[in-house]
Amino acid sequence: MPATRLFPADWLDVGSYQDVPLGLLKTGKESEVHLVARTGTSKTALLAEKRFKAWDRRSFRDDSTYRGVWGQGTRRESRAMRKNTRYGHVAVHARWIAHEWDTLVRLADAGVTVPPPVEPTEDGYRMAFIGDGARAAPRLSETHLDPRTATRVWAELEEEVARMLAVDVVHGDLSAFNVLWWRGRAVLIDLSQAVDAITHPAARALLVRDVDRLAGYFRRHGVVVDPRATLARVGDSPARFARQVLSS
Ligand SMILES: Nc1ncnc2c1ncn2[C@@H]1O[C@H](COP(=O)(O)OP(=O)(O)OP(=O)(O)O)[C@@H](O)[C@H]1O
Ligand SMILES: [Mg+2]
Repeated sequence: MPATRLFPADWLDVGSYQDVPLGLLKTGKESEVHLVARTGTSKTALLAEKRFKAWDRRSFRDDSTYRGVWGQGTRRESRAMRKNTRYGHVAVHARWIAHEWDTLVRLADAGVTVPPPVEPTEDGYRMAFIGDGARAAPRLSETHLDPRTATRVWAELEEEVARMLAVDVVHGDLSAFNVLWWRGRAVLIDLSQAVDAITHPAARALLVRDVDRLAGYFRRHGVVVDPRATLARVGDSPARFARQVLSS
């Protein structure tokens, strides 16, 4: 069953607009998220702008699991990345940013419950702000769900993971810290570590970790979870990952 849309199709005006920055919302390990009010001809919408920190200011800098799988850059870029030069770092950083935006668009198109993408920027991208008024939605990790709600949301998140895998994406950093809780819905964010399920050698290991981490939260909230059964339900199978070296 496809997830119903989070936002109405016309949530954002098309055409001319004016943006007013409303300030810093959150500082993460690798980014800052800013709040922006965009006023078009008929309405004002709130946007979240994710700005990646420059590569040398990120506290999470072990891209080794993730680099090299985001499509081909120029030969000069590839050589610089291999040699670990400053230019190489800058090239990795640019790909990192483009990668998260591309993944967000791909998942939104596939009907995964993510903030609707708005546009890429020089150092990140803009998406719909998930919150009420200017109050950001809490993360699932900060939310207490009763067992009944938790059971429903766990089943919905299984469907989300299945939907991602159906378009060959493994989130790679899925946990209650990267899921927002908004109006009774779980909204997946933070796709910077997403990998391609077909080509990435650690895809299955990351999928297993994603399911395990998320399962931990739901177990603590009274849900009987069976990660193996979940993996089977979301589309994991020996054949699917047969050619990947780190499959277990
Ligand atoms: N679209 C959004 N609407 C509302 N809040 C958001 C949105 N996107 C991100 N946030 C908030 O900003 C925080 C950081 O975003 P995100 O997880 O994408 O970045 P990060 O740099 O990986 O941060 P962290 O190190 O905390 O994981 C989120 O935990 C969430 O609270
Ligand atoms: Mg995060």
